[in-house]
Formats: sequence, structure tokens, C-alpha cells
Amino acid sequence: MKVRVVEVGPRDGLQNESKTVPTDSKVAFVDALSDAGYEEIEVSAFVSPQWIPQLADAEEVFARIRRKDSTVYSALVPNERGFERALGAKVRKVAVFTAASETFNRKNVNASIQGSIARFRPVVDGARREKIPVRGYVSTAFWCPYEGKIAPDAVLGVVRQLLDLGVDEISIGDTIGKAVPAEVHALLDLLLDHVDQDRLAMHFHDTYGTAIANVLASYERGIAVFDSSAGGVGGCPFAPGAAGNVATEDLISALARAGASLSPDLERVRAASALLSTVLGRPLRSRGREAPSGGGPSA
Ligand code: HMG
Ligand code: MG
Repeated sequence: MKVRVVEVGPRDGLQNESKTVPTDSKVAFVDALSDAGYEEIEVSAFVSPQWIPQLADAEEVFARIRRKDSTVYSALVPNERGFERALGAKVRKVAVFTAASETFNRKNVNASIQGSIARFRPVVDGARREKIPVRGYVSTAFWCPYEGKIAPDAVLGVVRQLLDLGVDEISIGDTIGKAVPAEVHALLDLLLDHVDQDRLAMHFHDTYGTAIANVLASYERGIAVFDSSAGGVGGCPFAPGAAGNVATEDLISALARAGASLSPDLERVRAASALLSTVLGRPLRSRGREAPSGGGPSA
């Protein structure tokens, strides 16, 4: 099955760094990722610079990256103000974000779930006018750092509201990386009864080492869009204890072996991770750095 990988390292990864990465380095990282041949790279977020100072240079990054026709360069927007900024930066796909847990959503965007969805209406209307696709994230879809286990029904409720609003694609977030395959199956049992599988993406963080198992479980259920970050950077400043996203290198290796066909070139993703590792001054956490002897996956 053809799988689309959404590279979220420049946004999810760099928003969670304690020190802000220089704009030059962000541009070089995104350009290196572009060379790897992704269908989509989430480049930055047009959120409040008070809340996420690490991504305050979103406009400049978008102005300076080398865009390829074959890649969609997307960005997070929390509200109409963010959408206007994104349009000004010539962004052609945006992502709104809410959660299945009230407490997490308040900490993350200072609004209730309903309140955040109300902010999305002008974004979705504007995007439709501009013919820009909209992704909708549902965070804390399995576990919340404040409320504990989240019921699948709560996730379905939010997914339905986003689809009713006109969001094109939903990304289901395991924000704190605590889900296990049985929980993935339980949630997908419910969601797939109500939502076309080609409108769903999965976004796993890898705090406890279960992200690849969760990716493979989702793939078996027909999910064909996965978010990941080069080198496994990532995390949300308002989700204490969350580790990085599943590493793109690990995702490509595992899915290629499961029979998936994927666009990003593994060696070039590794090159982008190596560049980022130098910028951050530490080794990154992807496991798949060396091809296993006897021939590694050649995705
Ligand atoms: P607020 O303070 O409640 O907003 O923040 P406000 O509407 O009251 O505005 C306050 C000030 O912020 C005003 O400025 C606004 O103009 C300004 P002032 O008048 O005081 O000078 N402002 C903005 N400035 C720039 N761009 C904007 C913007 N909006 C307002 N778009 C808000 C509400 C949503 C803005 C804030 O809480 C925020 O930006 N939160 C972002 C949090 C965030 O980015 N979290 C990480 C991303 S989510 C994630 O990582 C999870 C995910 O990966 C999936 C998963 O893993 O589960 C996606
Ligand atoms: Mg995330």
C-alpha cells in the first residue's frame, strides 16, 4: 500500500527545543528534507510567539526555503490571525489543532475544545475560499498528561465536529506517546465505522518505545498517512513528559518491510537528521541509522 509520510520535524521537533534554533539552520534543515522527496513537510506554526517563541520566525522560514513543486509545505494555525499570517507567507496547506481532553486543550491553546473549534470556522471558510486543504489534529487521543486515559467516544466526538466543519484530513495524536497497539485497534474499531480511512492520519510520539508497533497496527487497519520527524525530535511544551515523534528513519524502515511503498529517500532523511544533530549539538534518537547487515530496507 502507498503510504504518505508527513514530516513534522521542523514544527513539532523544533517547537520543543529549549533553545531556539537559528533561522538559517531551520531553512537548511527544511531544504535537506525537501531533497529527501517528501510529499508533505510541516514547516512551522503561526501561533502566538509568546506561547511558542521557538517558531516566532515562521514567516522568514517560509520566505527562505526552496520549495519543490512535488512537496506540500504546511503549517499549524490556531486561529484566524494565524491563518492570515500563513496566507501572507504563501502557505498552501494549514492545520488546525484541538484535543480530546479539555484540560490539555486549555493548557495548550487557552480555550475549551468547543472554544478552539469555534476559532477554526473562519480558518476553514478562508481556506475553502483560497482552495487550501485543511488538516485537523486531535491531540491526547489515547492518553492525557492531566486526565489520564481518554475514551474513544470522546475522540470520535471531536473528529466528527472537525469533519462537519469542513476539515479535509484528521491526524490522530498520541501526544504523550503512551498508546499501545491494543488501544490503537480499539480507537480505530470505532473511528473506521464512521470515517473513511483515507481521511485519517496517525501521529505517534515515542515516549515508551511503542510508536513503531502502533504505526504497524494502524497500517494493518488500512491507514496510509503517518506523521514522523527526522531523527525523532519533537514534543509539546504543554504536554509534560512527552518524548519526540516516531523517527522518520524508523517509520520508513518498518513500513518498507511491511510492504508499504514510500516516497522519502532513507539516506537523504538520514542526511537531514545528521545536519539537525549538528545544529542541536546532540545525537538524535532514531534507531535506524545503519542499514542492517544482509541488506537494509531500500525505501
Ligand atoms: P491567547 O493568549 O488566549 O490569545 O492565546 P488571544 O486571542 O487572547 O491573543 C493574545 C495575544 O496573542 C494578542 O496580542 C494576539 O494578537 C496574539 P496582543 O493584542 O496581546 O498584542 N495572537 C497571535 N499572535 C500571532 N499569531 C497568532 C496569534 N493569535 C493571537 N496566531 C493562542 C491563544 C491559541 C494564540 C495561544 O494559546 C497559542 O498560540 N498556542 C499555541 C500552542 C502550541 O503551538 N502548541 C504546540 C502545538 S500543538 C502540538 O504540538 C500537538 C500536535 O503535535 C499533535 C499531538 O502531538 O498530539 C499537533
Ligand atoms: Mg505532536
